[in-house]
Amino acid sequence: MYFRLDKTALAAVALAPAIQLSSAETILGAYVFHRHGDRTPKSIPPASLTDLGYVEVLDRGTYYHSRYIASDSPTQILGIQSEIVKLSQLAVTSPSDSVLQNSAAGWLQGLYPPAGAASNQTLRNGTTIEAPLNGFQLIPIAIQSSGSGSESNSWLQSAANCQNADISSNEFFSSDLYNSYESSTKSLYQGLSPVVNATFSESQLSFLNAYTIWDLLNVGMIHNSTTTYPALSNVSDDTMNELFQLANIHEFNLAYNESSTIRAISGMTLASQVLTALNKTITGNGKSPSLNVQFGAYATFLSYFGLANLTAVNADFFGIPDYASSMTWELVTNATVANASSFPSTSDISVRFLFNNGTSAASDNLTAFPLFGGSALELPWDDFVTSTQKFAVTGQEQWCQVCGNTTGICASSSSSSASASSTSSSGSGMSNAVAGVIGAMVTLGVVLGLEVLGLLAGGLRVVRKRSLAAAGAAASSSAVNAGDEK
Ligand SMILES: *[C@@H]1O[C@H](CO)[C@@H](O)[C@H](O)[C@H]1NC(C)=O
Ligand SMILES: *[C@@H]1O[C@H](CO)[C@@H](O)[C@H](O)[C@H]1NC(C)=O
Ligand SMILES: *[C@@H]1O[C@H](CO)[C@@H](O)[C@H](O)[C@H]1NC(C)=O
Ligand SMILES: *[C@@H]1O[C@H](CO)[C@@H](O)[C@H](O)[C@H]1NC(C)=O
Ligand SMILES: *[C@@H]1O[C@H](CO)[C@@H](O)[C@H](O)[C@H]1NC(C)=O
Ligand SMILES: *[C@@H]1O[C@H](CO)[C@@H](O)[C@H](O)[C@H]1NC(C)=O
Ligand SMILES: *[C@@H]1O[C@H](CO)[C@@H](O)[C@H](O)[C@H]1NC(C)=O
Ligand SMILES: *[C@@H]1O[C@H](CO)[C@@H](O)[C@H](O)[C@H]1NC(C)=O
Repeated sequence: MYFRLDKTALAAVALAPAIQLSSAETILGAYVFHRHGDRTPKSIPPASLTDLGYVEVLDRGTYYHSRYIASDSPTQILGIQSEIVKLSQLAVTSPSDSVLQNSAAGWLQGLYPPAGAASNQTLRNGTTIEAPLNGFQLIPIAIQSSGSGSESNSWLQSAANCQNADISSNEFFSSDLYNSYESSTKSLYQGLSPVVNATFSESQLSFLNAYTIWDLLNVGMIHNSTTTYPALSNVSDDTMNELFQLANIHEFNLAYNESSTIRAISGMTLASQVLTALNKTITGNGKSPSLNVQFGAYATFLSYFGLANLTAVNADFFGIPDYASSMTWELVTNATVANASSFPSTSDISVRFLFNNGTSAASDNLTAFPLFGGSALELPWDDFVTSTQKFAVTGQEQWCQVCGNTTGICASSSSSSASASSTSSSGSGMSNAVAGVIGAMVTLGVVLGLEVLGLLAGGLRVVRKRSLAAAGAAASSSAVNAGDEK
């Protein structure tokens, strides 16, 4: 009937002030969208995760372990296993792409590190077996494109095949913004010829390839010595910075346009995935995954940043998130929660959005930002749902509608491109004027190149690198395949 103050209790008392702020709060679940680590350049396919990139994602996985998994973390997800993974609590996905798949695998090694003897299992005959590699934990990564593991994946992976998104992205290349950068940077890009001529031909050296050119040099700056890439010594920091800013402008505008929101179809799809997964966590009474993790492309980040109006909160969101960056949506509550199978009502649940800029971040920590141009760092669940539903594309039928697709998987749905303009957000329908522009471009014979560039808009597409290379070679356009814009 009396307190017995043992060591643990004293330690807890000593720690109390530090964790007081969050001690009343419980994290019920989270959705993490993650970029890959350092890799080889996109313009020399196939790109692969480097050892440095492996280290980076492992470090990030270790951070997420300490945040959501470790039993002594004040922000541990309610009910999650802290040492030996329980697969039903996790849902991990990645496109079928070696950089993203390997990044996910490396990250998971940090999330649930080898458990040593804790992983031991005892057989009927008494023999004890420890998992290989010091108790390494195997965690499957579902492939986005295969449709396995989730009933909704078959339409989700089609995101980048979205007709109206392709049309919208193509518009970028005839915009005033594009044309003005194209002409003002001509000499800058042409001047790079001696440095990148092994990869880019003279005609490819323009703002059209702003990302892939910067990317090649950036990878060189990280990996190549003065002997393996001597010409790099002629590229100044100022030039690198200028090329980087141009790449950011190029990529953001391909991923999002306020008056043509369909361009951000990959962010719209992600928004729906996040909503569906978090809702499942809430309604699953502890039986659905509480930690959802998706590895994907920076273009999807940028699309979402635009859609969720994060760019209004901080102009840094116009920039490409760095390697190993991640954004996270947390389900939090201040209500008393007895256990993981009795969630509070949704009126007691909020969503908090956080971001960490990976290799560019000042610290390991995630930073909270207000969504949708507001100021609240925690948004009541119902508000989050309402605001997200304004742009989330949920389900195949809606996808077919907003994309204006009527063939293939959309053949049987009742949608048409005509209904698209009325159901989707502003300006996403294909106007006749736009159709005319596209028609003219086709006539000019640049369609193949534009198709390649159109891919930039859709973050989830698993790129057929070989066919793209062939298309690129045949096209009169000089766009260099940026692949799945990782
Ligand atoms: C116990 O069973 C395992 C698996 O069948 C076998 O490898 C092991 O040799 C057995 N040990 C003994 C002591 O029989
Ligand atoms: C954004 O979309 C509008 C409307 O479709 C278009 O007029 C404009 O050129 C686009 N801007 C860019 C930079 O793509
Ligand atoms: C690239 O440019 C350098 C410097 O002008 C030149 O020495 C080299 O031969 C060129 N390489 C190719 C493949 O054209
Ligand atoms: C950078 O170095 C690697 C070998 O470390 C080499 O394969 C690659 O071609 C170099 N990059 C360039 C652009 O020269
Ligand atoms: C959440 O899931 C429940 C049960 O499946 C469903 O009735 C509800 O419409 C879902 N809510 C959202 C916002 O998706
Ligand atoms: C992330 O880092 C990159 C590179 O430093 C920067 O351009 C971008 O604006 C940063 N994004 C955010 C949201 O901080
Ligand atoms: C974004 O947020 C800003 C600042 O709160 C607001 O003025 C603007 O209308 C918002 N834009 C959209 C598209 O919601
Ligand atoms: C949507 O339409 C475009 C253009 O017709 C086509 O390239 C794409 O494959 C279609 N997507 C699907 C999923 O049918």
